[in-house]
Amino acid sequence: MPPPSLYIARLLPEPVMAAAREQFHVTALPEARPPSRETLLEGLRGAQAAICTLTERIDQEILSQTPRLRVIANYAVGYDNIVVEAARARGIVVTNTPDVLTETTADLTWALLLATARRVAEGDRLVREGAWQGWEPTQLLGADVEGNTLGIIGMGRIGQAVARRASGFNMTVLYCSHGERDPSAPGSQWQRLSQDEVLARSDFISLHVPLTPDTHHLIGPAELRRMRPTAFLINTSRGPVVDEAALVDAISTGRLAGAGLDVYEREPDLHSGLLQLRQVVLLPHLGSATLRTRVRMGMVCLENIQAVLEGRPAPNRVV
Ligand code: DGY
Repeated sequence: MPPPSLYIARLLPEPVMAAAREQFHVTALPEARPPSRETLLEGLRGAQAAICTLTERIDQEILSQTPRLRVIANYAVGYDNIVVEAARARGIVVTNTPDVLTETTADLTWALLLATARRVAEGDRLVREGAWQGWEPTQLLGADVEGNTLGIIGMGRIGQAVARRASGFNMTVLYCSHGERDPSAPGSQWQRLSQDEVLARSDFISLHVPLTPDTHHLIGPAELRRMRPTAFLINTSRGPVVDEAALVDAISTGRLAGAGLDVYEREPDLHSGLLQLRQVVLLPHLGSATLRTRVRMGMVCLENIQAVLEGRPAPNRVV
């Protein structure tokens, strides 16, 4: 029997590609860039299984033309790029990659938080541009992290991993969570409050919610007004959770101290105002970007596909 056909929409790290080729007949373009919609459709049309990433929008129109497709393994924990109801209606299993990227994304969240508070990117630019004239008592003064309050919106796996790291900085952790999960040990000292209270009482707000219709623009003008003018907003979840225009307005009018962003409303395009603000640190969606994690994510995708094609339950099925 020929091996099952697998379409891989973006080139993944080589160990993943090699493992995929051992088990499947793989179709993948030798390009790192996202496929056009036509290319995506062409790849999916003949495949029994697919690995897609957050840059591929998989909707009803696409799925209506993929009669052989049985499983889509999304190479991410978030799966807002897939219209899951359309997949469900066609009996196509959708899976994601939770757990393996939790700690890596929490690390990056902290990198962004520290970089934003301590003006790391500004300092790097000053040195690189040859503009640094030596130590000064009042140069690039930042905000303290140690002993301050961290507010977490969305206390799922990643939110909890970010909160755990806060104990090393002697921080108070406040959180709000819309899900069932109510974190216990080691976070019994974490305090659950309403979102408004978390926003009003924190020095750093970090977002860890999935993108759904309910969380679109969860942080808009009203929420930004509730935050302290000395506070910072950190977003490593999904860009559309924050109203970017409102964020630019809040920072440029001094109602918010700054922001650290890894994700944007219309990636890879940015609100032009963000580029003008020195108080904002901008990263190119690097949350899970370590080799070990990206390989693990790929292996999780392959395990899920294998399970579905063999008639077993997929370990990370979302629909
Ligand atoms: C995810 O898993 O949702 C990340 O954004 C991908 O790196």
